[in-house]
Amino acid sequence: MLKLAQIQFAPQLGGLQNNLNKVEELIGKAEQAEFIILPELANSGYNFTDRKHAMALASTVERSDFVEMLRVKSRNQNQYIVSGFHEKDGNELFNTSLFISPNGEIGKYRKIHLFMNEKEIFSKGNLGLPVFQTDDFTMGMLICFDYLFPEVWRIMALKGAEFIAHPSNLVTNKAFKVVPAQAVINRFFIFTTNRIGSERDISFSGKTFAVDIEGGVISEASPENEEILFTEFNPSLAHNKMITEKNHVLYDRFPDEYKEIIQE
Ligand code: ACM
Repeated sequence: MLKLAQIQFAPQLGGLQNNLNKVEELIGKAEQAEFIILPELANSGYNFTDRKHAMALASTVERSDFVEMLRVKSRNQNQYIVSGFHEKDGNELFNTSLFISPNGEIGKYRKIHLFMNEKEIFSKGNLGLPVFQTDDFTMGMLICFDYLFPEVWRIMALKGAEFIAHPSNLVTNKAFKVVPAQAVINRFFIFTTNRIGSERDISFSGKTFAVDIEGGVISEASPENEEILFTEFNPSLAHNKMITEKNHVLYDRFPDEYKEIIQE
């Protein structure tokens, strides 16, 4: 069994030090968890006024006080941590999710499907769709609006992900329908950690949730409160891909019939 905590809170736009302090405090309250998931862009907030504003708030993974705090917490509390991170790399900005291990290793996924004004701020993710394997689990990461594209979920399943960590800043209710359906289709667990609060003209929907391999919502937070949502689950249940006694969700596919999906 894996004890997982999803931390729902309201990152403050531009409040780098406040966000660092808040996340440090909340992780401290989730000491019993073995795995923690924070929202998208947890260190910086989301709704930047323009690219210049975003650039002023970004940093590299190597020079970030926020990442250093996560590494220390991960090591001291012996926890894996997934967190959204506003990443600068040269002159480019990425909407990134970090996977921090107690031994100090850092894995990375950069958001591929950019939503609305993100297209004017971030570069499209360029690290593919990695899956991370440890002694205890195999896990993939997607970020918020990625959820709308079924291909990415399937690739994660084909790569053996037992669960998906899904840091989010959701502004519509569509993910609450789509994410459980993807759990059914791929028979893995999904943990969508959303944020609360509002920034300028955008409000976020909260209701952080966890979904099991049948698409059932097994834990759910409130729409507006800061909350730590705990779920204990067995990642290896995701190895069972039989949806009936005669149907396997991956082996029953016919990729030859799907070639039209590949478009220029
Ligand atoms: C989103 O991708 N933050 C809606």
